[in-house]
Amino acid sequence: MNDVKNMHKNSMLNMTYFRDKYMDKNKRLAIADIGSFDVNGSFRDLMTNPLWTYNGIDIREGKNVDIVLEDGDKWSELKDESYDIIISGNTFEHIKHPWIVIKEIRRILRCGGFVCIIAPNICPLHRVTLDCWRYLPDGMQVLADIAGLDVIEIIADDKKPDCIVADTILIAKKSKRDFPYYLKHNEQDVGIAQLESEINNFGKIISKIKAKTILEIGTFRGGTLLFLSKIADRNATIISIDLPEKQNDDSLKLLESFGKEKNQDIHIILQDCHFPNTLQQVKNILKSRKLDVLFIDENHSYCSTKQSFVTYKHLVRKGGIIGLHDIVPIPTSPIHQVHILWNEIKQKYKYEEIIENKNQYGFGIGVVYL
Ligand SMILES: C[S@@+](CC[C@H](N)C(=O)[O-])C[C@H]1O[C@@H](n2cnc3c(N)ncnc32)[C@H](O)[C@@H]1O
Repeated sequence: MNDVKNMHKNSMLNMTYFRDKYMDKNKRLAIADIGSFDVNGSFRDLMTNPLWTYNGIDIREGKNVDIVLEDGDKWSELKDESYDIIISGNTFEHIKHPWIVIKEIRRILRCGGFVCIIAPNICPLHRVTLDCWRYLPDGMQVLADIAGLDVIEIIADDKKPDCIVADTILIAKKSKRDFPYYLKHNEQDVGIAQLESEINNFGKIISKIKAKTILEIGTFRGGTLLFLSKIADRNATIISIDLPEKQNDDSLKLLESFGKEKNQDIHIILQDCHFPNTLQQVKNILKSRKLDVLFIDENHSYCSTKQSFVTYKHLVRKGGIIGLHDIVPIPTSPIHQVHILWNEIKQKYKYEEIIENKNQYGFGIGVVYL
């Protein structure tokens, strides 16, 4: 137990360093402490500024825990972009799937917010209830890369003679400009999760076939939907599907305001694209028409993307196209699997690849010609 106490003393010093350098004393800050269960102390007392709100978050109920997560990999209790600061000390070594958790951290962090993760690089085995990992500086960089967080500092503590533990500290930031680029709509910037040159080249193909009926799977902030609306025909019908939890009243109002000047018919379906009823809703909107364009940009797993491809390709007319986003792998992110499906599709269909730079991580649009 003494070892763990020592470990915490170092953590306190490192977290104090982070607090004093990166947390604005004069601003309201919502702070999430991941793995806050008080084993041998907590960071709560370091975060006592009256403008700051501290939430202790853990998968176990107990001392210093305000929010208990039911699923360690999917934090449905925590909303997107709800914290300014996310801290975590001596927890990441116990987390089963840190490559998933780092993405949840990114999701709940506001743009411009900071993350500080302290985890041991040397430490004796200490199961609570698991002890899975030790973190070296390069590993911390990989974690940040997986989630698209900008690294500010990575510090590896030297092991002190009186202590059998040494920590690595990752300090990273979620960039304010979260998307590769933005499109203007009624004075508002709408983020688009595509590389500009790639989506423009895809747009050229869409314009060539004079698309009038388009389906996008994966709306997110609506960037691609807005792009499609800008390049599609007057009177086009454009349908976009996303999970209900991804949108709120304000974002829905924005999405529904696209295409008005062109008299386009825009439909947002807030339902899992794999539900049979979602397919039926798309068919009801299309009536007897077929799709000119199907664009699949959903959760990037092999199974889900394949299911979307297989289910919705029947709605696309002969001479129409199917676009698959993220055909370029991200070597550090095993959950990005579209490239595996894309390699299968390439064997069976006439295709084209739109990739800005062959050394890039992720992005890339695969175009299937039917
Ligand atoms: C990468 S984003 C889409 C980005 C958007 N096309 C753009 O370029 O601006 C992926 C979106 O797919 C949605 N998604 C994931 N799985 C889904 C599913 N089964 N059904 C519908 N939407 C899904 C997510 O909620 C997320 O908003």
